[in-house]
Order: sequence, then structure tokens, then C-alpha cells
Amino acid sequence: MKKIAVLTSGGDAPGMNAAIRATVRYALYKGLDVYGVERGYAGLINGNVNRLNSRSVSDIIHRGGTILKTSRSPEFTEQEGRRAAYEVLSAYGITGLVVIGGDGSFRGARDLSHEYDIKVMGIPGTIDNDLNYTDYTLGFDTAVNTTLWAINSLRDTMGSHDRVSLLEVMGRGCGDIALYAGIAGGAEYVIIPEVPYDIDAVCRDIKSSQKRGKTSNMIILAEGAGNKDEIVAAIKEKTGISVKTTTLGHIQRGGSPTMFDRVLAARMAVKAVDLLCEESESRLIGIRDNQIIAEPIDSALACPKRFNEELYSVAHILSL
Ligand code: F6P
Repeated sequence: MKKIAVLTSGGDAPGMNAAIRATVRYALYKGLDVYGVERGYAGLINGNVNRLNSRSVSDIIHRGGTILKTSRSPEFTEQEGRRAAYEVLSAYGITGLVVIGGDGSFRGARDLSHEYDIKVMGIPGTIDNDLNYTDYTLGFDTAVNTTLWAINSLRDTMGSHDRVSLLEVMGRGCGDIALYAGIAGGAEYVIIPEVPYDIDAVCRDIKSSQKRGKTSNMIILAEGAGNKDEIVAAIKEKTGISVKTTTLGHIQRGGSPTMFDRVLAARMAVKAVDLLCEESESRLIGIRDNQIIAEPIDSALACPKRFNEELYSVAHILSL
């Protein structure tokens, strides 16, 4: 393998730039030519490909977002789109591709690698932590820390007024941002898609925690778990308590990556480039029990949903 390319795809995540930097610098160290594709698969189809050198990735390790930009590409889900992308890669003589993205991006990577003689290595980059073959995805740790910053601020003001607060966070169908931020932030309730919530139980808990001397309560709601307006309306109706709501939104997608995400980016990028040098079959890179792993794409994507029930019950016990 002599020429490889790197792209970012899907929702951006803090740590993507650190992964681009590590991919480029380690590939150069291994004697490869490296190209950057702008705007994910859409840019690949359009031929937005540029040669990168060590200086192209200077001063980006601490930045959120992605210098290569990103997109979600409906064209790439079609065979025709993937053929156009392959033609661009072959025009440059590129035979290896590093894709930094989430599950949609990896399904595209799988199809491309099945249809053409291109080796693809996937680095999981999404704040959602919703890829089941890996314990952590790039950006998750930073997003949780950003959420914690929001929880800390909310606690100050909610505590001063003896209020109940609901903070809605992202995560699509995965409750990990809510669960980890809830535990680390000392929230009273974590509502996540993995465990259907019982509004009567939430109301009872709020009332009984007030009896136990808690003057303010914090609810963390994962976006995929329920409708915040319906939840606060039900709490008002059943308890008479007004809940103040905050939606963190895209703030949790940006920001300087944490040490954890930067180091994870470096470790995963090194693995991806090493596997490309070995002409390995296409794989998804991950981390399990603090070891960097690389699974064939099909089996990685077929991993059953993982959910840490123990952590969920700890969140509840510690809130009492
Ligand atoms: O997948 C990352 C994510 O931020 C999800 O948590 C969220 O549901 C979605 O992307 C938001 O997407 P968009 O930026 O397109 O609104």
C-alpha cells in the first residue's frame, strides 16, 4: 500500500481533528502518501481530494469539529455513488481509506469495501457512543464533560431556588451521554431509551426526595427516551411542581477534545494505518478493556446492543 486517504463523515465529534492529525503523521512516518477528502463521502464523489503533509495538520489537535469538514451523503448509499467515489480513488491511485465517523458512515465503508478493491479502516467518531463493538467512541468523553459543565451551572442556580430542573442531552437511540453525565453530575434521575420510564414513579421519587430533605432535583433526559414537554407537563399535573427545562443541543458536539479523546484518537489512528500497511481486510477500530481492537466490519456492525445495567442502577442508588 502506497497511497491512502482520510475523511470524516456524519455528525462531527471532538477528537476527529486529533485522529486526522495522527493518521496523517503516522502514515507519513510509515512512508505512505496521504490525501485528505473534504466533506466526507459527498466530497469523495465530487473529487474533493488534496495531498496532505505534516504541516497540513499543524495546530489542530486541540480543536473540536473537523478541518476536513463533514457531511451525510445520501448518494453514497446508492451503488452509483459508490462507483463514482471508487473512480476518484483509483484516479489518484489510492487503495486504502480511513473513515472517521459513526454507524451510517461505517455501513457505507462496508459496502465500498465489498464492492471494490479498497481497504477501509473505520475509526469511530461520534459523541453518541452508540457503536456496540467498542467501549468508547471519539468525542463521547468530551461531550459528557461539556454536559457536566452544564449540569454544574444548573445545580448552582437550581439549588439557590429549590427548583427541579430537566436537562435534555443528545445521543440518538443511546443513553450513554445522559447516563455517564448523570452519574458524574449527581443527577437524581436519568431517563434513557434503554429503560422505559414510568412517570408516576418519577413523580413519587421527586415528592419522597423532597421529604428526605432534598430541596432541588436534576433530571437528565436522553433525547431518544421521551418528549421533554410531555414529561414536564405530566410532572406539573401530578405534583404541582414546575420543572425548568434546558436543551443543551449542539454545544455538546463542539469544544476542545479531552485528554482521553486525544489519546484514543492517536491510538486508533496508529492501528488503522498499521492495518492498511499490512494490507489487512477492512476493519473497524475500537477499544475494549483499554486494548485497541480491530473487528471485521460486518461482525462489528452486527454486535448486539450493549447496555451497562449495573451503571444504571448505581446512578439510581447514589441519587437517594
Ligand atoms: O450523531 C450525533 C448527533 O449529535 C446526535 O446525538 C443527534 O441526534 C444528531 O447528531 C443531530 O444531528 P444534526 O447535527 O444533523 O442536527
